[in-house]
Amino acid sequence: MAILKRLAETGRPAVTFTLDGQACRALAGDTVLTAVLTQADRVRQSEFGGGPRAGFCMMGACQDCWMQLEDGSRVRACSTFIEPGMRLQSTPLAPAAVPGSLSAAAWPEDDAA
Ligand code: FES
Repeated sequence: MAILKRLAETGRPAVTFTLDGQACRALAGDTVLTAVLTQADRVRQSEFGGGPRAGFCMMGACQDCWMQLEDGSRVRACSTFIEPGMRLQSTPLAPAAVPGSLSAAAWPEDDAA
């Protein structure tokens, strides 16, 4: 069940994307967070216990809204615009399923160490 309901700006062009393999529709100019939460009740399952996460700050500070794409890359949903054909995952893919990975998916925070 969606946790966001669109009330305004309904005339923007449609953008299609997939969420967990299901075809979805957003509007041009939506963030990934808006696109997903108008379809679902979470952006992902927490990697620390599996609880649902849906973002918190909505301004790029809390890091609660990271989502994985089918190619293994990740986006911060609240500060990334939805793009046509985006293939989003609410459950992180197993490392072996991520193209180009050896044993673990590359997380941006791994580069900071
Ligand atoms: S919701 Fe806080 S960083 Fe995206």
